[in-house]
Amino acid sequence: MADAPAGLSTEIVVVVAHPTLEHSRVTQRMLATTSTGLGARNGRVDVRDLYARYPDYFIDVAAEQAALKAARLVVWLQPVHWYSMPPLLKLWLDEVFAFGWAYGPGGHALRGKDLWLVASTGGPEASYHPSGHNRYFFDAYLPPYEQTARLTGMRWLPPLVLHGAHRVDEATLDEHARLFAERLHSWPAWPELADLEPEAGCEVPADARPALAAE
Ligand SMILES: Cc1cc2nc3c(=O)[nH]c(=O)nc-3n(C[C@H](O)[C@H](O)[C@H](O)COP(=O)(O)O)c2cc1C
Repeated sequence: MADAPAGLSTEIVVVVAHPTLEHSRVTQRMLATTSTGLGARNGRVDVRDLYARYPDYFIDVAAEQAALKAARLVVWLQPVHWYSMPPLLKLWLDEVFAFGWAYGPGGHALRGKDLWLVASTGGPEASYHPSGHNRYFFDAYLPPYEQTARLTGMRWLPPLVLHGAHRVDEATLDEHARLFAERLHSWPAWPELADLEPEAGCEVPADARPALAAE
């Protein structure tokens, strides 16, 4: 699956952030399943592999912003690294979700879109528990993601997470990848979205960024 071809408008942007995709078990399988499982929607999904696009970490911010503007659903497909996102996705966020574009005065470019985190962890589900080595339930690591969505006026969709990425059996992995493709295919007709309110966004005053406010 590649960029949406000219003529078909993009509905979904999948931002893939995996520093060693060639060694991946989960993320690679999900991308492979997605490329065959989307049916008519295939041409409307723009898959952007950040580590392939920007091996030197020089992100084309205008191109990324244009891709986001075109879409209604933004997906972050990533392994969990240190309870968070891989570094190039963090840099992408720092640069692409800019003040005055994604948030702050005049920063409404993402308002009304959906954000869906699709992630995998090495730790099994039982490790994300007060008695496990990760000590907290997995949800406890998600507020920075969720608030990033809310600050920019994006609706935060229930994340899709596969725990125990190295040890789940092939059938579980296949089912997870199939579910990912099916959800991309059926969005926004997900039963659980019927109860989700549109995100109102948060106003961030100009003086939240002194250097820019002084210009
Ligand atoms: C640098 C690094 C940090 C990681 N941090 C975590 C972590 O905080 N929690 C966790 O459960 N797994 C962690 N992992 C394991 C990855 O989440 C796991 O390898 C990945 O989800 C597997 O997906 P893949 O098959 O697509 O590579 C880490 C792996 C690496 C390389």
